[in-house]
Amino acid sequence: MPKWLENSVFYQVYPQSFCDSNGDGIGDIQGLISKLDYINDLGCNAIWLNPVYDSPFMDAGYDVRDYYKIAPRYGTNDDAKQLFEEVHKRGMKLLMDLVPGHTSDTNGWFTQSKQPQKNELSNRYIWTNSVWEAPPQYRLQCGITDRDGNYLVNYFSSQPALNYGFYEVTHPAWQLPVNHPDCLRTAEAIKDVMRFWLDMGCDGFRVDMADSLVKNDDEKIATAAIWAGVREMMDKDYPDCALISEWCHPIRAINKAGFHADFYLDHRGNGYSTAFRYYNYDTGKQESFFSKEGSGSIMKLVDEFVPNYEATKDNGYISFFTCNHDNPRMSAWYDELELKINFCTIFTLPGVPFLYYGDEIGMRYMSELTSKEGGFSRTGSRTPMQWSKGKNKGFSDADPDKLYLPVDTKENAPDVESQMADENSLYNTVKKIIAIRKSNPELCGNGDFEVLYAEDKKYPFIFRRGAFVAAVNPSAKDVSVAFDKAVKEYVFTIGETTVENGTITMKGQSYALMKI
Ligand code: GLC
Ligand code: CA
Repeated sequence: MPKWLENSVFYQVYPQSFCDSNGDGIGDIQGLISKLDYINDLGCNAIWLNPVYDSPFMDAGYDVRDYYKIAPRYGTNDDAKQLFEEVHKRGMKLLMDLVPGHTSDTNGWFTQSKQPQKNELSNRYIWTNSVWEAPPQYRLQCGITDRDGNYLVNYFSSQPALNYGFYEVTHPAWQLPVNHPDCLRTAEAIKDVMRFWLDMGCDGFRVDMADSLVKNDDEKIATAAIWAGVREMMDKDYPDCALISEWCHPIRAINKAGFHADFYLDHRGNGYSTAFRYYNYDTGKQESFFSKEGSGSIMKLVDEFVPNYEATKDNGYISFFTCNHDNPRMSAWYDELELKINFCTIFTLPGVPFLYYGDEIGMRYMSELTSKEGGFSRTGSRTPMQWSKGKNKGFSDADPDKLYLPVDTKENAPDVESQMADENSLYNTVKKIIAIRKSNPELCGNGDFEVLYAEDKKYPFIFRRGAFVAAVNPSAKDVSVAFDKAVKEYVFTIGETTVENGTITMKGQSYALMKI
């Protein structure tokens, strides 16, 4: 287990939208290097960088054309090497994004695999044995190659699935078992990719769709076994590097597959969503627990998170995030005060938290934008970082119509420079709570966690982290509940919280971090 994960707070960088160093309208690695001090100063000591590999960008880089080459629009492999060095100079860490489940259909492996003549990469992807074989339960691309067969896709149509085999082989004519030498070679090929970047100096990977490798593997037994093999390599050759999964099943991802951390994703109706993101599609109302409406329930989160946390805490971390590049930013339905309360809660929970670029200033979810590079509804969360009030909000010198995506030009659009200067800004709130977290081991990844008060449809939510207690009343209503601890110090508060005579009283929209 890489020790540094314990007190890390991640900052997610969407490279194309973060900082453009050369005025071509698109963010790049040199731009990111120029902002490392900013990230470090905010208190984030680790970075997750979305894919920067060469790609035709049908899915914003999750369609890799060449795993061994930085996309020219972001720079060169030398720039990446320099980035790793600059990150380390500041005592920070950086995870790249590993896309192991599929490639672009322009990847050289696929170009070779789709040849009609049998060759050593014929089985690198999953092909049926003739174009007339197209069982409807599989997502296949049919009749578009010279090779006589259809191939399985893993996500969008341009992302053919790499072949790690089938756990249950139901069509022996074309489905290979997981121990077929060609399937084993696929896993080795991905390990080679990992070694290449780890040797260059990256500190590990966020793993895209980590649960998607083996097909017909409902319990993910064979998929987990592949990752356990990868973890063995990591423990042996890269013990200080980390693997974090996009899986959202901590017991499988951490305990079985060996990931050091797993994301608590926004699956509709799950604990994280009902707490932080839930929108009732039937009534059209915002019913998350963290909305000031006050009509939500924290119990879905508690009932789901606590057993998962208890089952995995000795082996790894669960990652809460403010947002990522696949979801609407929380500012879509929360105002600034709600965001402050949400983010303070996220940064006082256990595990390894992630802050999505721009969330620290409450950047807007620009729902009005049309899709860019396979973003669709996700596009509105991928717009250029707003650094200042200057040209293109300081993101780029390019003409506005040359930008990767338009900058938010609304009158009250937030920017870093203004918020830095305002002590009460969202930026400064986030910065303070991160600093408090990092300077107190009890508030970091491994610190104890215990729920002290959580009731269905009731407020507040109170939990203990070592000798700290965090209490949060996101609703607009004042609340009081029994509370038998004596408070030594109010370490950080929003709104108003008092503890007296065995009762905690919280004004509407309050958060308090207390020492007991
Ligand atoms: C993950 C990524 C998403 C991408 C998909 C396919 O969910 O986060 O952005 O489109 O995988 O690679
Ligand atoms: Ca650029």
